[in-house]
Amino acid sequence: MNCMAKITISLIKADIGSLPGHSHTHSLILEKAAKLLKEAEGTLLIDSFVTHVGDDLQLLMTHRRGEDDRDIHELAWNTFVACAEMAKEMKLYGAGQDLLSDAFSCNVKGMGPGVAEIEFEERKSDPLLAFMADKTEPGAWNFFLYKMFADPFNTPGLVIDPQMHDGFIFEVHDVKMKRKIRFRTPEETYSLLAYIGAPSRYVVKYVWRKDGLIAASTSTQRLSLIAGRYVGKDDPVMLVRAQSGLPAVGEVIEPFATPVIVAGWMRGSHHGPLMPVGLMDAKCTRFDGPPRVICMGFQINEGKLLGPTDMFDDPAYDRVRDKVNDLADYLRAHGPFEPHRLSLDEMEYTTLPDVEKQLKGRWENIPETW
Ligand code: F6R
Ligand code: MG
Ligand code: MG
Repeated sequence: MNCMAKITISLIKADIGSLPGHSHTHSLILEKAAKLLKEAEGTLLIDSFVTHVGDDLQLLMTHRRGEDDRDIHELAWNTFVACAEMAKEMKLYGAGQDLLSDAFSCNVKGMGPGVAEIEFEERKSDPLLAFMADKTEPGAWNFFLYKMFADPFNTPGLVIDPQMHDGFIFEVHDVKMKRKIRFRTPEETYSLLAYIGAPSRYVVKYVWRKDGLIAASTSTQRLSLIAGRYVGKDDPVMLVRAQSGLPAVGEVIEPFATPVIVAGWMRGSHHGPLMPVGLMDAKCTRFDGPPRVICMGFQINEGKLLGPTDMFDDPAYDRVRDKVNDLADYLRAHGPFEPHRLSLDEMEYTTLPDVEKQLKGRWENIPETW
């Protein structure tokens, strides 16, 4: 256990069953998870908040035990297991889907749930934004993090605020080769973009200010790479700190006014536009989507979570939602054709290879002289 006065925010999520199909988490499951975390407040936890986006149950916890703490991860795991049991009894769809292991061992990473954690000394006043997405993959955050922390056309603070003027450091994970690298911006912007422009493989894990202040943390777990088979998309989460020498809250959420095309949507096999929505609309409907993102805004006070404010529940995001619907119509018109359907190498992690196995024996060689 980390005994320092630092605060840790842990956002851990899993799809443990939903209704109907892969659309929405049941209110009784949310209640159960909230109750289990409340019981840990005052001992393991300082505070907690339970919510969902689409079919993903989201556990936001504050404590002083640092990242990767065994007891915190075990609490999250046990909460998911208890909720999955309930989901099984209720015959919810995909009950227990993301719990890929039979028993907990040390850390939920590698066992199915997605994890974003951030540890810091509380500033005089500390705004925190928790982003949660359904029907997409961890690399979906790359575009938005780049805009927030490296693009002066999005974040005038990079130009105007002397505390941010030196820029930021991005840690990028290669989720296929299990290696990592750090890039300093603005001086290594082009090198950073060379990698993060391919979000299925290269994922921004952390962002720091150049003086070492932690600014953002994401979940990078790829379910199919862990399970070795298709188990839905990874549906990532992200924590971002804001203000006083970091991008303002409004600079952090401004990039979501662009309808960015991400991988995921139906059967984890299609490109589609990411729609920012309020909690009331955090359910997947059309073609099991479109992919959705919510943003819950908090102030942290001695580890207590003040809030949330439902940031995308606002007419300022109506226009991007309209554009998302137009793009969804356009992409859907492509049916089973690329680029709506993912490229063949990404389809390797879906159920398509099983269809190809069935057809394998039907292929005949073409003579060299053809
Ligand atoms: C996407 C997702 C859904 C399912 C689809 C088929 O991440 O979870 O789009 O892939 O509903 O689900 P099954 O195969 O369970 O009928
Ligand atoms: Mg699901
Ligand atoms: Mg999901």
